[in-house]
Amino acid sequence: MTRGPIIAIDGPAGAGKSTVARHLASHFGLLNLETGAMYRAFALKAILSDQDFDDGTALERLAAQTEVTLQPGRAGNRVLLDGRDVTERIRDSDVTQGASRVSVHPAIRAWMVRLQQEMGRAGGVVMEGRDIGTVVFPDADVKVFLDASPEVRSQRRYEQSGPAGSDPTAISRELRERDERDRNRASSPLQPAPDSVTIDSTAMPLDAVLTQIEELVRARCPGLAEAEGTRE
Ligand code: DC
Repeated sequence: MTRGPIIAIDGPAGAGKSTVARHLASHFGLLNLETGAMYRAFALKAILSDQDFDDGTALERLAAQTEVTLQPGRAGNRVLLDGRDVTERIRDSDVTQGASRVSVHPAIRAWMVRLQQEMGRAGGVVMEGRDIGTVVFPDADVKVFLDASPEVRSQRRYEQSGPAGSDPTAISRELRERDERDRNRASSPLQPAPDSVTIDSTAMPLDAVLTQIEELVRARCPGLAEAEGTRE
């Protein structure tokens, strides 16, 4: 049986992956799977278990006692950690930094990649992350590497963070730290797949980014039905 289409959206934090993936999923009738939320859920488990983010062996043991589930839906993904809904909590800054740190360990990555491959096996998905086009689904039908300058990405994160005392300098520093770790880790670092299309959204309005990616999807996945009026 042939599988449905797989669309991989990779790129650094704040590049706009989630917005793009959500739009594509609703426009083309696909499931949106946000893999970063899975690393975040595991980082939360490490926090709750008082586990050191740098101890790969202990984290591997912890992973064996952990269940992470993604529930894709129209409003985004709900994330369950050992059956408990942690969708909101995993957006906090301690979890954000923790996710970037637990995700350097090869055993944690292997576990997550296996779960992600199972979730996307039948296709019909837009999967966003850091290594989807390189490792999780190297045979994805469409591979986009979405990028933007650190300044613009920090600014977007700041605007998303709401009025609750967010400090733009701290946001910018944390984003750069995360970039550094995500791009330089030994195990499947953040990098564009050789056959991906890189889109730099630094000076591009969202509408133009969406139009370009929709065209790519139409070209690579002919016959996909399209919804009308899904663009906000
Ligand atoms: O996309 P995000 O910001 O929610 O991801 C949180 C962290 O998880 C990110 O800093 C690196 C890691 N991650 C990863 O290593 N591989 C993925 N496919 C997705 C996220």
